[in-house]
Amino acid sequence: MRYGYFDDAAREYVITRPDTPLPWINYLGNEGFFSLISNTCGGYAFYRDAKLRRITRFRYNNVPHDEGGRLFYICDGDATWSPAFLPAKTPLDSYRCRHGLGYSVFEGEKQGVQAELTCLVPMGASCELQKLTLRNGSQDAKRLTVYGAVEWCLWNAVDDSTNYQRNWNIGEVEIEGSTIYHKTEYRERRNHYAFYSVNAPVAGFDTDRDTFLGRFRGWSEPQAVAQRISYNSKASGWAPMAALRLEIPLAPGEEKSFLFRLGYVENPEEEKFSAPGVINKARAHALLAAYDTCAQFDAALSELKAYWAKLLGQFTVKSSEEKLDRMVNVWNQYQCMVTFNMSRSASYYESGTGRGMGFRDSCQDLLGFVHLIPQRARERIIDIASIQFPDGSTYHQYQPLDKRGNADVGSGFNDDPLWLVACTCAYIRETGDFTILDEPTPFNNEKGSEVPLLEHLRRSVNYTATHRGPHGLPLIGRADWNDCLNLNCFSHTPGESFQTCSNFESGKAESVFIAGMFVKYGKEYAELVSRLGLGDEAKSVLAAVDEIEAAARTAGWDGEWFRRAYDAFERPVGSRQNDEGQIFIEPQGFCVLAGIGGRAYGQKALASAEKYLGNDFGLEVLHPCYTTYRDYLGEISSYPPGYKENGSVFCHNNPWVTLAYCALDDGNGAFDLYTRNAPAYIEDRSEIHRTEPYCYSQTIAGRDAQNYGEAKNSWLTGTAAWSFVAVSQGILGIRPDYDGLRVHPCLPDAMDGFTACRTFRGVRYEITVRRGETKGLVVDGKAVPGDLVPLAAGPVCAVTLTI
Ligand code: BGC
Ligand code: NOJ
Repeated sequence: MRYGYFDDAAREYVITRPDTPLPWINYLGNEGFFSLISNTCGGYAFYRDAKLRRITRFRYNNVPHDEGGRLFYICDGDATWSPAFLPAKTPLDSYRCRHGLGYSVFEGEKQGVQAELTCLVPMGASCELQKLTLRNGSQDAKRLTVYGAVEWCLWNAVDDSTNYQRNWNIGEVEIEGSTIYHKTEYRERRNHYAFYSVNAPVAGFDTDRDTFLGRFRGWSEPQAVAQRISYNSKASGWAPMAALRLEIPLAPGEEKSFLFRLGYVENPEEEKFSAPGVINKARAHALLAAYDTCAQFDAALSELKAYWAKLLGQFTVKSSEEKLDRMVNVWNQYQCMVTFNMSRSASYYESGTGRGMGFRDSCQDLLGFVHLIPQRARERIIDIASIQFPDGSTYHQYQPLDKRGNADVGSGFNDDPLWLVACTCAYIRETGDFTILDEPTPFNNEKGSEVPLLEHLRRSVNYTATHRGPHGLPLIGRADWNDCLNLNCFSHTPGESFQTCSNFESGKAESVFIAGMFVKYGKEYAELVSRLGLGDEAKSVLAAVDEIEAAARTAGWDGEWFRRAYDAFERPVGSRQNDEGQIFIEPQGFCVLAGIGGRAYGQKALASAEKYLGNDFGLEVLHPCYTTYRDYLGEISSYPPGYKENGSVFCHNNPWVTLAYCALDDGNGAFDLYTRNAPAYIEDRSEIHRTEPYCYSQTIAGRDAQNYGEAKNSWLTGTAAWSFVAVSQGILGIRPDYDGLRVHPCLPDAMDGFTACRTFRGVRYEITVRRGETKGLVVDGKAVPGDLVPLAAGPVCAVTLTI
């Protein structure tokens, strides 16, 4: 069943009831100021770092779920309601939430009053705007009392939710007209404050949460709201908030709009105060002036829409598959932007307080993002490479604010270095910008250690080549892509991190998956350096590729599929010799797409994957699921069967198999798998799937789970980038390459062709793919051999491929 529908023309998903199975969220913001916003207006805002600059408070794992966020109350006679249903929870006469690209709209109606609330973060500004329009559609004159409120977070989200002996003493605000300033800790070492303001005179305010709420009351029924008053409270310690009250007379048919502004300001140290103890508000005043009228708001919304239209206009497709088109044209690319911005930090499943930017995560996110804003991808590559160590290994994560490696998690994830090769090659193929390879890039962020980026790539490749185990396969370290396959961990201490503990550094456990990566990215590196004239280096890397490929073909092959690994005692993992976990998906995907063992191995491996791992929602990670804890495997065996890495459909790795099907020219196989978990294709099963039908989730519970088919961990997953790569470069076959754009589709029988527009290095390629007798590629009217469309002079290049 569905809880809404796609509005393709508006690029919106329209949710038609507030009681979605889980909060269905959207993201606002582009580079600095970000907000999460649910279909009932929940969520929170932060500046750059969701842990260290949390602006508004959000309680994860709260009951009920998703309380708090943007708190709007409309009081009309005895009725109190909220345009997005929460927080008031009063049943509405009508409700709609429209999640668009960088904005969300809530339309609620009660007793003839229509409210429309639109929230967005304007381009390049450090604030969230909330425009509330109220229309009296009744025959009666109304006198509405309206509250708009937020609860402040005391900046560090972890401290905010743990250190109460301090926190309940430090809350401070300033009040100036219709603006409440939150300035906790500004008196000492912070140079930033936040504000909440409305562009109309307020009838009253509250800044002390407990005064506003009253004893024994929650956000659904604050005492101030129940009494239709404000206490004009001034927070001092305890929990500071900002509640603004408006008194709004509305004649029949009359409409009024108000603009609420939630802003964030940083001041230079020497400009912190305008008088002793008084914050310098000049920057806040400027921000408020920039967004003071509804016309200014409307302009910001138009700018945002134009921005997205232009961005997405760089890659569009039109085919007979409406659902594929809407994923490619809008929602998959949108999610790629969100994962690029957030990495794995802030969602309704990621608390924003733990992992910062992941090395492997950000490298992979870039694969689906690089065509959108290459310049930002370039900066990101340098940031990522800057946490690498001189031996080629790397920190696993970094914090977005200071960009330094996270020492708590450290290094030792042996797939990490190769992802840097993957994303840098993708960047250069997209842009032709080889100069990135000369960019001086430090090791471990140490000044003076800078070497050209190319040297980082070289050390990545060498790291894998020189860290091999008894079978000649790459050593796995703490884990490879599968964070839960911890072969050197042997943990027996409850709660100990499986990823960071290692009680038995065998120096032996090996990964067939990393072998697949090395074959693919080692070859890509060799091609790159041979283009730089470094033929000898290319040769020696290819020699290492040959060795590792041979190891994967022999020790890595189980007869019907690729093995997954060798454990610390040199025993195979993912083999029919095992009692459980006999086959894993990752090497079937990566080794086949890397071409290991050619078609013969490839076809067998994919057939086995489908046979043992296939379910209605894709391919499960492994089979059979582990039913007992095994210290020699680690976290993977800690999950109940069917969940997470122990046998769910871990969506991230499914597109590798889609790409593997494409490598074998199997269009039906590729398309069938793609459609089994592409969100638009499973929208009808939202009551089972439960997460948002417009974005990918990390996992979908497998057949062994009680809740088979239920998804979790939506939004921040490498599934976004890889699915986009799979559909755009695999199925549609539009592949950026050094010397041009390759067009090499791998379509199912059900598709006769498609048209696509792809902006590539400033030229707009208008591509038509169709079935026909006379096969071949025609570029600007001329037949061209092969599948490479050479770089065109532009501005437009017409490409027709007959297949
Ligand atoms: C999860 C993995 C994740 C890891 C990150 C584990 O608990 O199952 O999916 O990559 O934590 O630290
Ligand atoms: C989620 C992590 O973010 C990612 O880095 C990892 O590869 C997958 N889980 C699989 O464990």
